[in-house]
Amino acid sequence: MSMTAIYLCPQAVLAEGCARGFDPWRKGRDTVFVLRWQGELKAWLNSCPHLQVPLHYRKDRFMSADRQRIVCHAHGALFMPDSGLCVLGPCLGQSLRSQVLSVDERGGVWLAGQ
Ligand code: FES
Repeated sequence: MSMTAIYLCPQAVLAEGCARGFDPWRKGRDTVFVLRWQGELKAWLNSCPHLQVPLHYRKDRFMSADRQRIVCHAHGALFMPDSGLCVLGPCLGQSLRSQVLSVDERGGVWLAGQ
């Protein structure tokens, strides 16, 4: 088990209501996504609680068209951006798995060690 934090990006690139996918563990696909919601940065595993598949259909497309919910594009499940709770869809009542972030003094966003 490594406790090493992994650098993701400058926090300035994470605009309000926008999400970005990252591949911190070099899996060749985005396994984590980060979202700024009401000013706060949130990080979630990119794995739907319904079938454990990635949520997005195209790079960085994690949000609904109205930008109010996180959406799984496989079957349309909707999740609350603040809690990760599924509020509509086949995994209703289940949650995305949150990841811990930190921001350094220069505004760099880091994924905490696992
Ligand atoms: S896999 Fe996400 S809603 Fe079915």
